[in-house]
Amino acid sequence: MNKSPLRAAVVGATGYTGQEVLRLLRGHPRVRAAVATSESQAGHAVRGPQALRYVRAEDVRFDDVDIVFSCLPTGESGEWAIRARDGGAGAAVDLSADLRDGQGGAVYGVPELWRADVRGAALVANPGCYPTGLLLAMAPLLEAGLVDVSRPLIADAASGVTGAGRAAKRDMLFGEVAEDYRAYGVGNRHRHVPEIAAGFARLAGGGAPVPFVFTPHLLPVRRGILETLYVPVASGLTAADLTAASAARYADERFVEVWADGLPSLRDVVGSNRVAIGFADVALDGAPLVLGVVAFDNLLKGAAGQAVQNANLMLGLCEEEGLFQ
Ligand SMILES: NC(=O)c1ccc[n+]([C@@H]2O[C@H](COP(=O)([O-])OP(=O)(O)OC[C@H]3O[C@@H](n4cnc5c(N)ncnc54)[C@H](OP(=O)(O)O)[C@@H]3O)[C@@H](O)[C@H]2O)c1
Repeated sequence: MNKSPLRAAVVGATGYTGQEVLRLLRGHPRVRAAVATSESQAGHAVRGPQALRYVRAEDVRFDDVDIVFSCLPTGESGEWAIRARDGGAGAAVDLSADLRDGQGGAVYGVPELWRADVRGAALVANPGCYPTGLLLAMAPLLEAGLVDVSRPLIADAASGVTGAGRAAKRDMLFGEVAEDYRAYGVGNRHRHVPEIAAGFARLAGGGAPVPFVFTPHLLPVRRGILETLYVPVASGLTAADLTAASAARYADERFVEVWADGLPSLRDVVGSNRVAIGFADVALDGAPLVLGVVAFDNLLKGAAGQAVQNANLMLGLCEEEGLFQ
């Protein structure tokens, strides 16, 4: 078997997710970053041990690399991923929202849910950060019919500020976010809502839509997402039932852990590609609810880590390569 390293290009390599892909590839046994693009830093050295200089995206020869990670802003990124694939790159992963509707023939890449689609694919749309946690938490429950879909699921989510990207924005200044906590995109107006709705419908078998209210919040930490779910369940179901269904569903998954006891927090997962899920009973008369908490790192399982996981599958490598460091 040929063991020479595969060559990766990271497009938009100065951004938060691009930097994280570069960092993961430094520890990857089979793939190395051969190209890193930046418009603002072209010609400058990439920080780190490799002798690599940023180049402009226009100057990349995509037929000279095996895998491309497109880490540009939504609106720009998808077309570069398609250009990379069509230009001869073996495979391309787009981290933006551009191709999540299947544009360009992209497949939606949550390996634990739709692994067969990703394996060997030439173009993968990496999921949004918030949808990643919600879909992984709800998949076992929707697949097993444990959710009462006549009532809405309530999902409150909080993300660290790196979720907003590195470009300067007044709302994201230290003076604006520090020691504050705020909701945004309320009323199901966040741009991830259609992606979440499509994922839930697919998990529920394409029947009636799964109603939900999704409210994101900005948490003044650098990284991490914690999502609190109020899951309407059929009468008689408890947290133990949801835990058992989830534990069975993810028994063979290295990156999804279901807690039998207690609820995860950010410090349990930040810095890793893992998603941690826990459930708790709610003392409530009337229509039953079970509370679920999902925690993960927005830049890893929510972006760069999942992108490397997808790339490993696309390239026929072991899915975990480079992700346990
Ligand atoms: N941050 C997260 O937690 C997260 C999670 C999931 C998905 N995503 C998605 O991943 C993609 C990258 O996100 P990010 O957080 O890494 O973004 P970012 O920190 O803002 O980085 C984007 C990079 O793209 C480059 N770029 C090239 N053309 C640009 C343009 N016209 N405007 C702005 N930047 C441009 C910039 O580098 P130069 O200026 O040096 O060229 C910049 O470093 C986005 O599509 C985002 O939606 C992000």
